[in-house]
Amino acid sequence: MKGIFVTMEGCEGSGKSTQLRLLAERLDGAGIKYIMTREPGGSEIAERIREIILDGKNTAMCDECEALLYAAARVQHLKEVVIPALKEGTLVICDRYVDSSLAYQGVARGLGEEYVAEINSFALRECPPDLTIFLNIPPRSAFARKHGADKDDRIEQMGESFHEKVYQGYLSLIDKYPRICAVDCSGTKAQTSQKIWQLLVDKGIVRG
Ligand code: TYD
Repeated sequence: MKGIFVTMEGCEGSGKSTQLRLLAERLDGAGIKYIMTREPGGSEIAERIREIILDGKNTAMCDECEALLYAAARVQHLKEVVIPALKEGTLVICDRYVDSSLAYQGVARGLGEEYVAEINSFALRECPPDLTIFLNIPPRSAFARKHGADKDDRIEQMGESFHEKVYQGYLSLIDKYPRICAVDCSGTKAQTSQKIWQLLVDKGIVRG
């Protein structure tokens, strides 16, 4: 595929939304053609699956169902949005991707990385990211910074030990996949944004 696929990962409260907004501003300023999309969601059907997954009322959802729904939303979004854009040569920036499933469902929920990789084999095989940016901040510091979790979000409601497991899951993925680059985001928003931009320059994705 001609385009470049960049995914952004991080724990709850890592400042991902802010950093994606700042990145969009810089890309706009540089006149670079791109699309910014998100998971779970990014297409009409996938957004409907997202509502089911994140609905705080769905307390009976089992872990396997959750993992399969994320994988289902992912394939739909890939086929409908990401792959066509990459084929056209567009830079695609995606808020979360398969590494979220590996860290959240594989490690934190305890389904195992192998099982989660298997149900996500389409994504891993057909559309691996060229670069994954991991916003590195431990969940304890992140929640302190954003003053607690969102009460209506099923995943954010999980306790501190769950989010710590997610974080550890991400750290183990960094060791395994060289495409994942950790960006320290303990500094200011502007400093983190600059680090992300520099990473894109270093990888030859944008010009300095
Ligand atoms: P969202 O409100 O977009 O959270 P954030 O701003 O932190 O990205 O909700 C997405 C939630 O879904 C988030 O808690 C992470 C979780 N998630 C998984 O558990 N597995 C996945 O594969 C994906 C894509 C997200």
